[in-house]
Amino acid sequence: MISENLKNLLTDEILAAAPVTEPERQHYFIDRVRAYASELKSLQGEALKACVVTFGCQMNARDSEKLEGILSDIGFDIINDEQEADFVAFNTCTVRENANEHLYGRLGRLKQAKKADPDMIISVCGCMMQETDEIEKLKVKYPYVDIIFGTHNLYTFPELMFSLLRKRSGRLDEEAVNSMGHEILKDSSDDALRLEKLLRYGDSKSNRKDMEKLYRKPVVSVWKDNSDIVEQLPSKRKYPFKQGINIMFGCNNFCSYCIVPYVRGREKSRKPEEIYEEIRNCAKDGVKEIMLLGQNVNSYSGGISFAELLKNIDDMCGDIGIDRIRFMTSHPKDLSDELIEAMKDAKHVCRQFHLPLQSGSDPILKRMNRHYDKAKYLDRALKLKEAMPDISLSTDIIVGFPGETESDFLETLDVVEKVRFDSAYTFIYSKREGTPAASYEDQIDEATVKDRFDRLLKVQNKIVDENLDKMVGKKLKVLFEELSEYDDKLITGKLENGITVHVPGTKELIGSIREVELTENHRFYFTGNVVG
Ligand code: SAH
Ligand code: SF4
Ligand code: F3S
Repeated sequence: MISENLKNLLTDEILAAAPVTEPERQHYFIDRVRAYASELKSLQGEALKACVVTFGCQMNARDSEKLEGILSDIGFDIINDEQEADFVAFNTCTVRENANEHLYGRLGRLKQAKKADPDMIISVCGCMMQETDEIEKLKVKYPYVDIIFGTHNLYTFPELMFSLLRKRSGRLDEEAVNSMGHEILKDSSDDALRLEKLLRYGDSKSNRKDMEKLYRKPVVSVWKDNSDIVEQLPSKRKYPFKQGINIMFGCNNFCSYCIVPYVRGREKSRKPEEIYEEIRNCAKDGVKEIMLLGQNVNSYSGGISFAELLKNIDDMCGDIGIDRIRFMTSHPKDLSDELIEAMKDAKHVCRQFHLPLQSGSDPILKRMNRHYDKAKYLDRALKLKEAMPDISLSTDIIVGFPGETESDFLETLDVVEKVRFDSAYTFIYSKREGTPAASYEDQIDEATVKDRFDRLLKVQNKIVDENLDKMVGKKLKVLFEELSEYDDKLITGKLENGITVHVPGTKELIGSIREVELTENHRFYFTGNVVG
């Protein structure tokens, strides 16, 4: 039962006094929830523990750092084991079917922990929560989830925590009023209305039971879209020496297989000054490597082009001590000569380029709505190599897109052989409901897809082996990141081109950039020795 002291920290007056502008509103709720957590800590004698589990891409990883920042500010210790946590957030991905399955597996395994500790708070957010069917499924099959929010209102998390604590203390909020004028995809106003009705009808035994159930329903707040970018909220660095930096959000491309534009909304770019300030702050904290993030960085439109932004960032990084700049992802249709030149002239931009191919066949690329053909892709990739012969190219490829014939697939293999990618992320096409390709009739059977996937992997692995063999014996710079997962006598780092290297060493190496002689190629990583 919640004590009076705690209840007094959650009153209607406190809620009504919240500012209506952002980020002030969320800072206010951070302070209020922190007061609650600190009272709880003095009652329990120990700090609360929080765990954020991240699925999906770099964008989600960056969002999770923001969640961890808020949680730390509230007073939680951040831990890695969700089974031990008082608060767990799952930041979800829905780009392929197996991403969804990951969530359900992990949630299922938390059921016992929640049973043992009903005060535990479980929250689900991220891309999957922008799909109403998935929210319904959670409410029915995983009723022990407490807070659900989406990608557009991640920053309102402090307010949602406050709302949940009020609900648990027997107070009623209509979460719908908290959307601050934004259009709602899904919220918990239905539950609030039902609860209100029950309260009006009084305190019969059966009413009380129904009420009890409604108080246990999750706080849901998922917005349809949001054209604002809210800056200046807390964030926690996962690594002290490298940092992802959002430059733009969302995607306008609507590739016919892809769910991302539906769950991440339309493109919006941050102002250059905000980006520069974040980079300067990183440098002050000793960050050595930054990665500029966006679903399509080269359609950045914050008043200057992406090439100009990159050039400006490169110029400032020399003075402030950031050694490496990376960026991802780029769309081949927007890859300008200006960007290739800017990259070639830059001093700190890593010679690494991720250029998703998806398919090498013209008719498939057309049906994918990619706005380039095989010739244009080859032209861009080869131009990059010509301008920077030491560049490392990586790509994404989808096998088994609806209607893909053997000859379409051979076109993909042809591009792979011509470009000779240093790494390729290969995916089996996954049908995403709501995307145009999901209703295409000529879906490919599993056995054919599997066969093509294996053949592609074989060709690509051979190329990787040949490319990497050529690097053995070279002395190259490595930024050391962590102890090796498999052997604590080894330290793991990254070459400028993004490939992993393991060297014998101690943890003092972590965070430094040193010269390493590469001694052996293991296809997905090198082993080597520090020589300088
Ligand atoms: N914005 C990035 C990609 C984001 S999603 C870009 O355009 O490159 C990452 C990768 O997932 C995509 O490049 C694509 O190869 C893959 N992908 C997206 N939707 C998929 C689907 N329905 N089935 C299989 N792979 C998919
Ligand atoms: Fe998806 Fe295409 Fe946008 Fe990439 S560019 S996120 S693949 S729609
Ligand atoms: Fe997944 Fe969302 Fe990224 S769907 S790939 S986490 S943008």
